[in-house]
Amino acid sequence: MNVLAVETSCDDTSVALVRDGRHILANVVSSQIDCHRLYGGVVPELAARHHLELIDTVARAALKEAGANWADVDAVAATYGPGLAISLLVGLNAAKGLALALGKPFVGINHLEAHLYSPLLMGEPVFPVISLIVSGGHTILAECEAVGLHRVLGQTVDDAAGEAFDKVAKLLGLGYPGGPEIEKRARQGNPATMAFPRSMLDQPGYEFSFSGLKTAVLYYLRKHPQAVVADVCASFQEAVVDVLVGKTIRAAEQYRARAISASGGVSINSRLRGKLRAASCVPVILAPASLCTDNAAMVAALAYYKLQTGERSDWTLPIAPSVGLGRDTLG
Ligand code: KG4
Ligand code: ZN
Repeated sequence: MNVLAVETSCDDTSVALVRDGRHILANVVSSQIDCHRLYGGVVPELAARHHLELIDTVARAALKEAGANWADVDAVAATYGPGLAISLLVGLNAAKGLALALGKPFVGINHLEAHLYSPLLMGEPVFPVISLIVSGGHTILAECEAVGLHRVLGQTVDDAAGEAFDKVAKLLGLGYPGGPEIEKRARQGNPATMAFPRSMLDQPGYEFSFSGLKTAVLYYLRKHPQAVVADVCASFQEAVVDVLVGKTIRAAEQYRARAISASGGVSINSRLRGKLRAASCVPVILAPASLCTDNAAMVAALAYYKLQTGERSDWTLPIAPSVGLGRDTLG
């Protein structure tokens, strides 16, 4: 079954064609980052306009890359939330229109659930998996026992990990998005220079908090205006990584996980990847960067499993800009 999926929840316009939930025939992502960089963050109105301009071209490019045509599409999927309302509308409506025109089944997909199950694209899944979603908008730790059977263990009570990277980069006068800028400089710095807080690491449970860390960096910079940027970056990054790794490993032990996975933009961070792999006794499934950041292939993969169980969405399915991680099916 070839599933064509559309993902427009934020600032990436993406269309993918995936066979049987596993084989990526095409995964085209058109990034708008250069446009939003001028404003230091994503401008929703601009993002939606770009999606409208790009969606047709990106869809045709995906078909071309796959060496397929419309007749090869067996089902259509799209992200319905969470995300920016007007951006979601573009992709969801385009996908519905396409499914209607092709006379194929349609299923709406929760963006966070797509991140959660993106390891499906990396091979036969082993459950239970402890899955960490770390992006600009979310920091969620979940336990997955099968596709669609998951439980949220904890999430951030304030800033997301990626948001912290972006805000600290701004404090340091670095570019947007902050994560790659900080990681680049951190390579030249000493992570032990400043003892920034590892918020909530010693507390039981799986909640995260990153806003205190950002404030700690702000106060440090006020007190030490001559601080070496590379050392600040390395010390800040280490604090974020220690918390993410510490809680993920603890969850893996508690739930006797057979694997750990991570997705979202922050999961590209090589310090995080390295420390997670070093600390884990079970395999750590880390997709290539193109499948960690927002992409339609993960939407198509999850849609395949949902379609297999007979799930279909109604044409009236609305966008859900602030929906959480779908059903908390394990309770
Ligand atoms: O998943 P993503 O592309 O978009 C969403 O937020 O949904 O994640 C973007 C976030 C940004 O906050 C960015 O600074 C962060 O991921 N990021 C990184 C790295 N690359 C991107 N954070 C740390 N290290 C990186 N190498
Ligand atoms: Zn995302």
